[in-house]
Amino acid sequence: MKKDFISIADLSQKEALEVLNLALSIKSKNKRRLKFQPLKGKILAMIFEKPSTRTRVSFEVGMLKLGGNAIFLSDKELQLKRGETIVDTARTLSQYVDGIVIRANRHKDIIELSTHSDLPVINGLSDLEHPCQVLSDVFTVIEKKSEIKNKKITLDNFKNIKITYIGDGDNIANSLLLASAIFGMQLTICTPKGYEPDREITVKSKNIAEQTGAVIELSNNPLTSVKDSDVLYTDVWVSMGKETEYETRLKIFQPYQVNQKLLNMAKKNLIVMHCLPAHRGEEITSEVLDGPNSVVFDQVKNRLYVQQAILTYLFR
Ligand code: CP
Ligand code: NVA
Repeated sequence: MKKDFISIADLSQKEALEVLNLALSIKSKNKRRLKFQPLKGKILAMIFEKPSTRTRVSFEVGMLKLGGNAIFLSDKELQLKRGETIVDTARTLSQYVDGIVIRANRHKDIIELSTHSDLPVINGLSDLEHPCQVLSDVFTVIEKKSEIKNKKITLDNFKNIKITYIGDGDNIANSLLLASAIFGMQLTICTPKGYEPDREITVKSKNIAEQTGAVIELSNNPLTSVKDSDVLYTDVWVSMGKETEYETRLKIFQPYQVNQKLLNMAKKNLIVMHCLPAHRGEEITSEVLDGPNSVVFDQVKNRLYVQQAILTYLFR
């Protein structure tokens, strides 16, 4: 049966660990300049309804490095733009390629595409989740905040890691909730009132947390949660598709900026994360983004290895 990666929750704890360990081995092979080409002859279609730098390039390069090929399909050039349905698009693509990455305006369109296609479907960002980004970020957290023994990531690596996310309860916050729940981490999502993460995902994450020992909290106070955190994560205040709310959001989110003053209240060795692109001077200052605590370009780099692992895992 085909397997998708549309939500972080599409992977069980065991499967997610398997993907992270595959990423570890791909990264190590890459360092040693060893080829790893399990996807020779496979072709990935990449449908993008929104702009992208990192996701697009890392999937395309990742696929080529795995021995396969990728075709970038902007929605503006597909018949989708002229009203062809997602279902007919999915059926058509299923005749030609081996898998689909899609960045979509509506999460439900990705589900629909998957329902009508025999191929593995990967969510390259939707309004609800950004699972590839967050799984890759978990990998970065482990690399930076835990000791990987015997070249293997285990559940022990996640123990006692505390993450604070400050900002909008958006797609990144939603995927972080599910990932922290699955791996048993401690996560506080700190947003202004009314901008909390998706309610259904929050409930689901808290339910998973009961099994895994994760600690999930929502807060509106940026100062209290950051004090004993190991990781501080933020994202833009105005996600793609929310541009009309720009002025209002800028005012409401001001107290949630990640700046040096906030960092002065945190542990010295705290790492600062951002999925990028950043709006410097809004959710994060340049001083912090370019400062010694920032690991944002490690995050960028790891997208390549974790997505190669996801592709290898789903295309098996
Ligand atoms: N972080 C991320 O997904 O970046 P892009 O929008 O450039 O793909
Ligand atoms: N929350 C942001 C993430 C961009 C990678 C957005 O959806 O625009």
